[in-house]
Amino acid sequence: MWSRLGYLRRAWCGSVVRQHLARRDASSSAAADALVRSLSSVAASGSGKLQLPDLPYDYDALEPVISADIMRTHHTKHHQTYINNFNQALERLHGTDHPQTLISLQPAIVFNGGGYINHCIFWTNLAPTKQGGGEPPLQGSGLMQALERDLGGLNVFMSTMNTAGAGVQGSGWAWLVFNNNTKRLEVVTRPNQDPVVGAYTPLLGIDMWEHAYYLQYKNDKATYLKNIWQVVNWKNVQERYQAVAG
Ligand SMILES: [Fe+2]
Repeated sequence: MWSRLGYLRRAWCGSVVRQHLARRDASSSAAADALVRSLSSVAASGSGKLQLPDLPYDYDALEPVISADIMRTHHTKHHQTYINNFNQALERLHGTDHPQTLISLQPAIVFNGGGYINHCIFWTNLAPTKQGGGEPPLQGSGLMQALERDLGGLNVFMSTMNTAGAGVQGSGWAWLVFNNNTKRLEVVTRPNQDPVVGAYTPLLGIDMWEHAYYLQYKNDKATYLKNIWQVVNWKNVQERYQAVAG
């Protein structure tokens, strides 16, 4: 379990955070590199702790689509809590070789590790409009061609994604994913903080937990889903697609 999560951190969160923090400025790039080194160290030693990554924009930068209040709470409270709980579970994991204890820790590892990874991706899937948020993929790009081939084009895809997100019962995520076997795009959902694993590589996630929208949108999930496209960082999604599709 640990080695798998170590891989997930390196493959998803570390590279993701590095790619997108690196676009901020030189000091942020240095911070991103430090984070990646930290993640690599954790994965290598198996004894380190996860840390909350900086956002690649200010808390109020996604307004009016997502309020600063939501972003600050989401980042500093919710994401931080997944990290705290993951680290606590990891500490217990390293402190025992009792099989029943090891098994009992796995749900906490998966849930909080998933929460950590999912949010690392989510932050970088978004961007302020001044930094390209909402600008659609380039016409003729690999991603746009794949969206047209597999999901009916950009507008149909966004509608499909919104339907998937609205259909998440309880808490969970809607994802645009790359199917590593078929080499095609798909829209999937995941409950709770289950990370996208196995045959799929996540490209774009929409957080459907109430903590992602309720302070601003209350129970109006449809408007949250409609508005969030104004701050989707398609450049980030396109980079993810190119990395996996070649
Ligand atoms: Fe969240």
